[in-house]
Amino acid sequence: MTVPTRTWLVTGSSAGLGRALVTELLARGETVAATARDPQALSDLRPAVSGTLWTARLDVTDPERIRRVVGEAVHALGRIDVVLSNAGYALVGAAEEASPDQIERQLRTNLTGPILLARAVLPYLRAQGHGRIVQISSMAGQRGSAGTAVYCASKWGVEGFFESLAAEVKTFGIGVTIVEPGTVHTGFFGRGKELTAALPAYADTPAAILRRRAEDGRLPCRGDLAKMARAVVDVALRPTAPLRVVLGSDAYGSIRRGLTARLADLEAQREVAFSTDLTDGSA
Ligand SMILES: NC(=O)c1ccc[n+]([C@@H]2O[C@H](COP(=O)([O-])OP(=O)(O)OC[C@H]3O[C@@H](n4cnc5c(N)ncnc54)[C@H](OP(=O)(O)O)[C@@H]3O)[C@@H](O)[C@H]2O)c1
Repeated sequence: MTVPTRTWLVTGSSAGLGRALVTELLARGETVAATARDPQALSDLRPAVSGTLWTARLDVTDPERIRRVVGEAVHALGRIDVVLSNAGYALVGAAEEASPDQIERQLRTNLTGPILLARAVLPYLRAQGHGRIVQISSMAGQRGSAGTAVYCASKWGVEGFFESLAAEVKTFGIGVTIVEPGTVHTGFFGRGKELTAALPAYADTPAAILRRRAEDGRLPCRGDLAKMARAVVDVALRPTAPLRVVLGSDAYGSIRRGLTARLADLEAQREVAFSTDLTDGSA
């Protein structure tokens, strides 16, 4: 019996997790629309005997191109079953150091791009009556940290948007999953990262310490890239889409500490929260 293959669209396929995802899918004989800012970076990828590889140029900061590439992929491959929205990078440095252009580019790449991609693909998924959108977030999407404020803003934005989207599109048979990886060796803290212009006032602060470690390549990584890619694909193939998936023991620990602290904060605020209700109970 032959197992039916699915058609996947992947962003940021040139390197890191995106490339590992495409490699994993091709090894499984799946049909893949691999997109990258420079499709030349995909020229050495080969489908397995039964699979198909289609490539296209896609910069996720270009709204018109997003719409066009989604339409072309559906035209070329017949449908899209799963979107793996992966493209992204980190702006590293203190929030005050970031230029307006850097802030705008970070949000346009990590947040607006994924939103526009989801909106571009939804009409096709609705017409099919099925589909999955898997959005790569981060453990930074659940917990803020010094030195990555704008990156965290982009990933928290992703978490809010895709959690809401999941509730909107479930009725159409479309599943949405937010993936929160921990640290993993890719170009992320290497060639992929962008640095702010350092301000002397921040020289000895946590933001500058992270920035120096990123510059020196001294950030330890816990994750195994191939295992993460396999886990993402396995999750996307589950009959029911989980809303969130955490990858890596560091991500699990960080998110757990963050949520525990937030819950304790919330409980400490209970009296104040209830004190602002209308006293007569009317709405
Ligand atoms: N590595 C980690 O520790 C880690 C942890 C948590 C979450 N993540 C998330 O994982 C995802 C993948 O990152 P990675 O670790 O694989 O880093 P990476 O090795 O630097 O790969 C990033 C990919 O995103 C692409 N990209 C960047 N800007 C783009 C744009 N405007 N349009 C299209 N593609 C663009 C890059 O393409 P180019 O080759 O053209 O630059 C590259 O293919 C990101 O969303 C990141 O936030 C990573």
